[in-house]
Amino acid sequence: MTPPLITISKLASLARVPHAFPYQGSKRQLAHVILPLIPDDTPRLLEPFAGSAAISVAARHISAVDTAIIGDVNEPLMTLWRSILQDHSSLADSYERLWTEQLDDPRSYYEEVKRKFNATREPQYFLYLLARCVKAAVRYNQQGEFNQGADHRRLGTKPVAMRKRLLETSNAMTGTTVRSGSYQAILASAQPGDVVYMDPPYEGVTNVSDRRYMQGLARSEFENDLAAAVKRDVSFILSYDGVTGTKRYGTPLPESLGLLHLHLHAGRSSQATLQGLDHVTIESLYLSPALVERLGGEPAVLAILEPSYNQPPLLDDACDAP
Ligand SMILES: C[S@@+](CC[C@H](N)C(=O)[O-])C[C@H]1O[C@@H](n2cnc3c(N)ncnc32)[C@H](O)[C@@H]1O
Repeated sequence: MTPPLITISKLASLARVPHAFPYQGSKRQLAHVILPLIPDDTPRLLEPFAGSAAISVAARHISAVDTAIIGDVNEPLMTLWRSILQDHSSLADSYERLWTEQLDDPRSYYEEVKRKFNATREPQYFLYLLARCVKAAVRYNQQGEFNQGADHRRLGTKPVAMRKRLLETSNAMTGTTVRSGSYQAILASAQPGDVVYMDPPYEGVTNVSDRRYMQGLARSEFENDLAAAVKRDVSFILSYDGVTGTKRYGTPLPESLGLLHLHLHAGRSSQATLQGLDHVTIESLYLSPALVERLGGEPAVLAILEPSYNQPPLLDDACDAP
């Protein structure tokens, strides 16, 4: 059966959600569909493939949950998150110093910061690299060294704007627990009232030799972990596969898991309109049976997503510009 198609409608309540740093694959746009799927009585959101933790930041910003746990296998990224939560002001000072020092020769300065980051893994260097690298896409070489190039058209977010972002994100995320490591420990710690949002790297970008992520993710192991979570009545929401034009990334998860499968249409971007249908993206979203039950069953889920369900696509940009 073809999954119901949901076209993302923007929620006014999420208009001013902050984001600390650009990150390829950020789910800021999907927050408009995902947040309404978090039941009112949810104390805690767990986000074990956090990246820029767009869903947790949005959920905490509108107080949809009391607290969050975020984790990621990328250790320096979680060190950056700790720094945002514990001392955003010093981090903003360091960023301002790096940003200003680069002005004489931005190209060679970027290379110098890359070297310093690879030697020390310090968060201010990572923040600067994220702000300046191509497509905000984290890339590592075989030795685990950051090797993404700079986007020479931009100098990165200006210090005043970065300071504001760090402050607002830190405020929204007050009380958040930050963990480094693979997703399993966080998923296993989920309690019945929690909601877990998972956004793993898609199949095809998950093997270790792929430079997009620091660690691979075995599909079969992941499916077993999902089956165990379903059995434990864990409420989870999962972004997994999708289609852009005729190109499919990831194969849909097996029906035997009993998940509610939705298709999200992020809208046809103005870019896509110029380039033709090849750039339209449809993303899958899967809901666990325990979550569907908490929300009142499948018809209730579709009713929650109204006015997004069965609506014509928005003319808006689907992807998250850095
Ligand atoms: C698509 S990105 C998540 C983006 C995130 N939703 C956001 O809003 O920015 C996937 C993330 O999973 C992380 N990752 C890859 N393998 C992992 C694993 N085995 N356990 C935990 N995190 C992992 C990557 O480092 C990356 O940050």
